[in-house]
Amino acid sequence: MRTRIKEILEQGAGSVPCSFSGWVRSVRASKGICFIVLNDGSTLDGIQVVAESVLLNFDDICRIGTGTALTVSGVLVESPASGQKWELAAQTVEVIGLADETYPLQKKRHTFEYLRTIAHLRPRTNTFGAVFRLRSRLAQAIHRFFADDGFLYVHTPIITSSDCEGAGELFRVTTLDAAEPPMLDNQPDFGQDFFGQKTGLTVSGQLEGELYALAFGDIYTFGPTFRAENSNTARHASEFWMIEPEMAFANLADDADLAEKFIKYLCRFALEECAEDMAFFDKHIENGLIERISKVAEADFARMEYSEAIERLQNSGVTFAYPVEWGLDLQTEHERYITERIIGGPTFILNYPKDIKAFYMRQNDDGRTVAAMDLLVPKVGEIIGGSQREERLDRLESRMAELGIAGEPLWWYLDSRRWGSCPHAGFGLGFERLVMYLSGMENIRDVIPFPRTPRHCEF
Ligand code: 4AD
Ligand code: MG
Repeated sequence: MRTRIKEILEQGAGSVPCSFSGWVRSVRASKGICFIVLNDGSTLDGIQVVAESVLLNFDDICRIGTGTALTVSGVLVESPASGQKWELAAQTVEVIGLADETYPLQKKRHTFEYLRTIAHLRPRTNTFGAVFRLRSRLAQAIHRFFADDGFLYVHTPIITSSDCEGAGELFRVTTLDAAEPPMLDNQPDFGQDFFGQKTGLTVSGQLEGELYALAFGDIYTFGPTFRAENSNTARHASEFWMIEPEMAFANLADDADLAEKFIKYLCRFALEECAEDMAFFDKHIENGLIERISKVAEADFARMEYSEAIERLQNSGVTFAYPVEWGLDLQTEHERYITERIIGGPTFILNYPKDIKAFYMRQNDDGRTVAAMDLLVPKVGEIIGGSQREERLDRLESRMAELGIAGEPLWWYLDSRRWGSCPHAGFGLGFERLVMYLSGMENIRDVIPFPRTPRHCEF
């Protein structure tokens, strides 16, 4: 049985031999000694293996290339050289899988753009090792946060017949013949499709999540979501993961409170439980990251009305690329200006104009805004989008009618307002945006293993 390098390093030196396996990061041979740094992904640091010429296969070992898979055994000893605390005095070195000089990760530094083209190999680099360890731990922390708080985990469907956000960004799911679909009234006849109706990949689990909140009180979803949105930015992916809590008997203020508690918890978790990888990001990706995240973990998040945000942007004296006017949506440049320059920390923007938000948001008494909230954070802009939901059947139906959204396909959603409806609220946190925020990585393509973006779906 192999022992993971992380565990070996935690235990430290001992007289009992240990055995571990991993991939070669570097090989250096000199005067009858060969130094091999081996990494197994369990931790940022590899172990330096010291092989001496008494080993039977010593000559072969000296010639192995970067990327080779090895199993070594020996005794961990204090390293006399600087650069590492421990090293392994090898008793055996077994070559498991060779890698020759065509292995692309020979150089120490590659650009992230290049590494994206070899997304199947980039997890073997320090940066992507750290990113994907952080991502994995955060996913587990998210489940822990909600489990500790008594939230029910719901698996909402991935194939759906409803476009929750109403933005028409659904990827179609169909088994109809693409070249010659059956036609009805000059349109493909989705009545003959696999599900007997038009279906797509979900853009959000919210609508189904609401139904469960109205039975279990507090629920969350955590799953993949898909958007056929043609935006080629560093913050948008066509497939991304979203965490969506939903609380019954809760209003917009409760929603913001939960979001603030959640983000702070995740900041503290990253600092405490992923310290080694966070130190790496602080040193190599974003100087000052740890200080930034530590401050957020302690800060009170600002709360600002949308109307005030517009005024403050207008009075800023800054010329933005996109217009700033009551009724228009905030663009990333505006969001970042608010959170980075006006506030200098995480900021909730509350109560947006109803015309730029989805149909399900609760209408405020002013007749022109809805109980929406976005959480903006420095560097990323919008990280969370949420709202209190319209729980009044008549108001919901009239808003849907105004927007031309047919009630019939959403009969089950309307039913939830018919029997035992209650105020409820929730939000969606984009998981990749969270990983970007906590690691300092600037492109969403570099925090998801195999990114899907317009015109790109390799692997
Ligand atoms: O603001 P959005 O569209 O809200 C919803 O989907 C609601 N149904 C959530 C809810 O209330 N339950 O998306 C929520 C978050 C955004 O704030 C952003 O972090 C992320 O999801 N997001 C994306 N992340 C990556 N790529 C994209 N194309 C994204 N679109 C949204
Ligand atoms: Mg949004």
